[in-house]
Amino acid sequence: MPFPTTRLRRLRRTSSIRQMLRETRLAPADMIQPLFVRHGGGPSDEIASMPGQHHHGIDGLVETAVAAYAAGVPAVLLFGLPARKDEAGSEAYDPEGIVQLAVRAIKAEQPELTVITDVCLCQYTSHGHCGVLRDGVVENDISLELLADTAVSHANAGADMVAPSDMMDGRVGAIRASLDNEGRTDTAIMAYSAKFASAFYGPFRDAAHSAPSEGDRRAYQMDPANGNEAIREALLDIDEGADVVMVKPAMPYLDVLRRLRSETLVPLAAYQVSGEYAMLEAAAARGLVDRRAAALEALTGIRRAGADLVITYYAAEAAAWLS
Ligand code: PBG
Repeated sequence: MPFPTTRLRRLRRTSSIRQMLRETRLAPADMIQPLFVRHGGGPSDEIASMPGQHHHGIDGLVETAVAAYAAGVPAVLLFGLPARKDEAGSEAYDPEGIVQLAVRAIKAEQPELTVITDVCLCQYTSHGHCGVLRDGVVENDISLELLADTAVSHANAGADMVAPSDMMDGRVGAIRASLDNEGRTDTAIMAYSAKFASAFYGPFRDAAHSAPSEGDRRAYQMDPANGNEAIREALLDIDEGADVVMVKPAMPYLDVLRRLRSETLVPLAAYQVSGEYAMLEAAAARGLVDRRAAALEALTGIRRAGADLVITYYAAEAAAWLS
């Protein structure tokens, strides 16, 4: 029955009614805080391209992770800045590498905090690509072994979950097999399944010093125009053993999240990436949007599209806003 019998405004009248009928909820437990860790001590340094985010030494990292956990954020996602880069990205799978040291330090202080590690070579290779480079081409199959070694070393350090972000074919299967071989059957895999070759990673590449020195990532990350292919990527990752699949970035790809929600039953994560964060921060700094309202609206939209988990630089702050 249309107007005047039906009036949708009836259920928007009071804050209490709106709260009762809210379809999507955003809670601290839905959010994952990405954190950057570097060698050396001293105070954390703010990342110029990502206001409010920092490069932490291990002590600062542990303190920040513990504070996020206290605010209600159940998990952190770690990115490391190595002491040295080389052709083979060897610090990525060094048992004494920065991420491995960081995982041990967090687990010693706050064992209940879920620690997820980004598994990729780009921060560790001298050329900045996500795999091994041969004659200017990122070699898929050779890279798998190094990625699997990286995942195993993170698991051995105590990571609860590993998150491969390299976009090599077959990496989820290779990582699952290596983890199982090492007795790490309980280590979960959160696959960056639909990771697009996006302009929105710009600030992160500054933050992680991981821009490719030559070329770009379009021969392994996905074409932003492709939705069907994103579903294929996710289905293959699920077949290979992914426990959680991720769409990245979030805001320009909400349709992909929605499709994955209806076409699969796995838990879904979405990554609100550095460029999404930096855009909101820049607009808020100029007084063009209300910072807190805009951030919460963006995060709610990502949940509404179908994400169970949202990886966001706002996690700890948003958790405080929500409590
Ligand atoms: C590494 C990686 C990237 C991001 C997460 N893991 C950068 C890239 O692929 O260039 C981006 C995160 C962000 O922008 O917040 N492969």
